[in-house]
Amino acid sequence: MAEDSDRATRLEAMYTDMAAHSLEGLWRMERKGPDVRPYLWQWDTVLRAVTAAGEFVDIPYPGERRAVALVNPGIPGALGSTHAIYTAIQLVRPGEVARAHRHMPNALRFMIEGAGVSTTVEGERVPMYAGDLVLTPNMLWHEHRNDSDADAVWLDGLDSPLVFGLAAAVYEPFEDGFLTETRPEDHSGRSYGLGTVRPIGYEAPAKGSPLLVYRWTAVEPAIQRMAEDGADTEFDGVSIEYVNPGNGGHTLSTMSCWMTMLRPGEHTKAHRHTYSSVYHVHRGKGSTIIDGQRFEWAERDSFVVPPWTWHEHVNASDSDIAYLFSINDIPTLEAFNLNREEPLTENGGHQQATSVFDPENPN
Ligand SMILES: [Fe+2]
Ligand SMILES: [Fe+2]
Repeated sequence: MAEDSDRATRLEAMYTDMAAHSLEGLWRMERKGPDVRPYLWQWDTVLRAVTAAGEFVDIPYPGERRAVALVNPGIPGALGSTHAIYTAIQLVRPGEVARAHRHMPNALRFMIEGAGVSTTVEGERVPMYAGDLVLTPNMLWHEHRNDSDADAVWLDGLDSPLVFGLAAAVYEPFEDGFLTETRPEDHSGRSYGLGTVRPIGYEAPAKGSPLLVYRWTAVEPAIQRMAEDGADTEFDGVSIEYVNPGNGGHTLSTMSCWMTMLRPGEHTKAHRHTYSSVYHVHRGKGSTIIDGQRFEWAERDSFVVPPWTWHEHVNASDSDIAYLFSINDIPTLEAFNLNREEPLTENGGHQQATSVFDPENPN
């Protein structure tokens, strides 16, 4: 008995000593990653917040942005929409310039609304139109300007949660006014946009993709041609990846961007994978069932598919195509051999939807 109580006392002393010196027994540790939750942001709600920010918040200098971030409710103090991907809706009002900065996180923009708007990346001005994807690979100076008389709104996507997690988020504001243009407008698109030829002697501004913009006017017919040829997948409709035409690799070193076409009435099969995705509805109306919960989406809504959750997509229209733009972290997982994927085999590959996500009472 005395021996038992001596043992209990010594055990407690062991834990006290450990705690006092920042040590912990592995057998007592809860080993799990961030609780990345599925979530959906309706466009009306986001636009209301962004419009209000346009009224109350000037673009702060140096280098900041008027962006309303879509933050995952499952991660305390979330820096992103998932543990790896930040997305936000950014507003640049008529005549405004979001002045230059550069940073270690890779960034991309999917243009939602506006014309007469551009992003200058290093010395190259890139005009942006609805549905275009514009890249700012890491550590390239970039500034945004709106020379039109209407608001410009786009989706920002960054790998900043990952880069902050690695404590590598170097950031520098550009202190010397505005960027100067040293290349012709849209030079990278004119040089690399065809994808099958590349210029000899071209020097990319950094080691990232030499192509800074992917035009919707080129992407849409490409997907439609693939659809005509029956290039359907089990889980992702007819999908394309925006590739780095310099090396055939992923869009960016840490993130890949896709455009998924769902045919009228299409219902994909369910699968799950270790990468996470943030979707932005470019066109159409439908739903995605994530771990048994139905997330109903319409044009310009955004939603999160967390890692290792079952998911399948449904196009609710019998007559119209749906287009889903998405950002995922496949390149990061591949780089570390962490990519794993499996199909749902039971019930014909489909989940039972047992609840519907309510955007008005989301939590
Ligand atoms: Fe930036
Ligand atoms: Fe998937």
